Amino acid sequence: MKKLAMLFIGIALISLVACGSEDTSGSAEELQELTIATDAAFAPFEYMDKGEITGFDVDFATAVLKEAGYQANFENVGWETMLQDVKNEKADLAVAGITITDDRKETYDFSLPYFESTQLILVPEDSSISSVADLKDKQVGVQISTTGATAAEKIFGANSDQVNQYDKVPLAIMSMQQGDVDAVIVDNVVAQEYIKNNPDEAIKAVNDSSAFDSEYYGFMYPKDSELAKELNEAMNTVFENGTYEKIYEDWFGQKPDMSTLTQ
Ligand code: ARG
Repeated sequence: MKKLAMLFIGIALISLVACGSEDTSGSAEELQELTIATDAAFAPFEYMDKGEITGFDVDFATAVLKEAGYQANFENVGWETMLQDVKNEKADLAVAGITITDDRKETYDFSLPYFESTQLILVPEDSSISSVADLKDKQVGVQISTTGATAAEKIFGANSDQVNQYDKVPLAIMSMQQGDVDAVIVDNVVAQEYIKNNPDEAIKAVNDSSAFDSEYYGFMYPKDSELAKELNEAMNTVFENGTYEKIYEDWFGQKPDMSTLTQ
């Protein structure tokens, strides 16, 4: 009887100790947070909805960071501040439909490409502009320091007064609606989303594939960031395990063509 009681006490003690040690390892699991700078005025990639930053990029980047064991903390700092914040390592990375370009590669590191894009021309529905050639004597609007601005520069030359630069894409479109500019050059999916969300604004998109190349979005890091390699591995997993497909379908209502990402 006495021996049995001792045995019980022994087992109780052992399980107490075991539980205790399990507890401490459990509570130590706080994920490290990474700051992601963005410009949340670029639907459907990143935009504000009821005070929250949301969009395809938000879901995708959150999934990639989670796969790598990090928590995503998005900060809507605006496009130009975002570029500065990554350069100065104030942000760990930026995710904002950012096109991977050779020019930017001199200052930043990029992830693998995760989305194919190109430029489109937005014009009022009754506009006669139907190609880049038709822009010749026109005023265009672009978001400053974007590939849309670079495309406009290619058409009009550097520092042309026909190219009007805006802080945000919606400001460029608004200015077209007020008649200040004749057209806006912007990323195709964003242009199409704007038309879809604003059916009463009588805007149409003009495609000129001879003038605009394919672009690829990537996460943007400070130069020589250790993170880039680590998150690329996680990104590959998210590409391969169906998570990318799921998020893509959630936002675009169709399956992605993964072959565009291997270029
Ligand atoms: N893809 C273009 C670029 O990299 C435009 C991106 C603008 N993104 C935004 N969130 N405003 O220049």
